Amino acid sequence: MEQRMRAWSIIVAAGRGERLLDATGGVSKQFLEWRGEPLYMAFARTLACCARMSGVVFVFPAEVLAAEEARLRLLAKDLGLEWRCAAGGARRQDSVRNGLAVLPRDCDFVLVHDAARPFASAVLVNRVLDALAAGAAGVIPGVPLTDTVKKVRDGIVELTLDREKLSAVQTPQGFAADALVRAHRRAVSDGVTVTDDAALLEWYGATVRVVAGETANIKITRAEDLAMLKEERLPVFRTGFGYDVHAYIDPDEARARPLVLGGVPVPEGKFAVRAHSDGDVLLHALMDALLGCVGGGDIGKLFPNRDPALDNVSSAALLAEVLSLVRGKGFAPAYADLTIIAQKPAIAPHREAIRANVARLMDLPVGVVNLKATTEEGLGFTGSLEGLKAVALVGGTLRA
Ligand code: CTP
Ligand code: MG
Repeated sequence: MEQRMRAWSIIVAAGRGERLLDATGGVSKQFLEWRGEPLYMAFARTLACCARMSGVVFVFPAEVLAAEEARLRLLAKDLGLEWRCAAGGARRQDSVRNGLAVLPRDCDFVLVHDAARPFASAVLVNRVLDALAAGAAGVIPGVPLTDTVKKVRDGIVELTLDREKLSAVQTPQGFAADALVRAHRRAVSDGVTVTDDAALLEWYGATVRVVAGETANIKITRAEDLAMLKEERLPVFRTGFGYDVHAYIDPDEARARPLVLGGVPVPEGKFAVRAHSDGDVLLHALMDALLGCVGGGDIGKLFPNRDPALDNVSSAALLAEVLSLVRGKGFAPAYADLTIIAQKPAIAPHREAIRANVARLMDLPVGVVNLKATTEEGLGFTGSLEGLKAVALVGGTLRA
């Protein structure tokens, strides 16, 4: 069995984001809000999708460390990873070194990542972990260059580099934890400055393996990169289901209401239902389906049947209220599929009138309201004419 690996990540978020300060109004880029959280959380959420990851160290500027740690106590409650914080240093490599210092002792592998690269995927994380598990001391994601790169001095080309041999390197960069700790220690004593961690391993002669990076995994650096953080919020499709029953009673009883379905009177057979409202079983099922689309509870909660103001109230009026409620929550109904289940009366003669009226009440074209009717073959309470029932399904879009 593969020995369980203890892999942690260090998310470096201790820079000033100097090149972007004008465009962000003074906010360091790692603290920009994205998807309702600071940008540095994006990669932490991605890590949390990778079963082999154990924990994450966030490295913040010393002056905001306490505040960010307090914020994380709320934000990271549901993260599903252990987490710790550390104070950053003057150079990126100082921030990484400070992060390494708080790793747990039993950590085997460490993935160093720029907080400013929110788009790195879980697939990439797993690719880096796979290469580490296969024995590499250092693993970095790289993408082929699309531009030709030239070495330039004082505005004059000195050399055209062979593009085939070049790779643009990203993070997360993965390392055997002890190898990276050793490399950073030596860098301090040797006074070496580098721009990425792999360079330290290269410097000390370790082999660094390149795996496929991701072109989307850009580092938010310049003002134009901010456009990448603007997301079009697409509406989602929602469906809701509703069900209602009413009992048939003697038309002369106190709470007897002449049968109305979808706001259309159905006089044949002089059926009456027991109800506080007008007892329109179809509109009641429809309203519950609409409420289901927005997590809005049910009509019993919304319109208590003890409320004297609702005595014999028209269900069409209640539907108007429900519609304005669900629309207020960003829901736009697009479709209703309705079924009336009754032994009697026959629904067919009224089908088109009911469809048209429901469509009118919902402000929808008739074509997107479907009405079915069925008996239950003489079985159950509908079969014995004790009552009737209706079910409704509504679909539509909810603004995100
Ligand atoms: N970083 C860090 N500590 C530093 C410098 C950088 O933790 N002393 C982090 C940044 O927060 C960023 C990542 O390293 O997530 C990559 O660095 P870069 O893109 O250069 O970010 P900044 O240094 O913040 O930006 P700038 O260079 O524009 O000031
Ligand atoms: Mg920088």
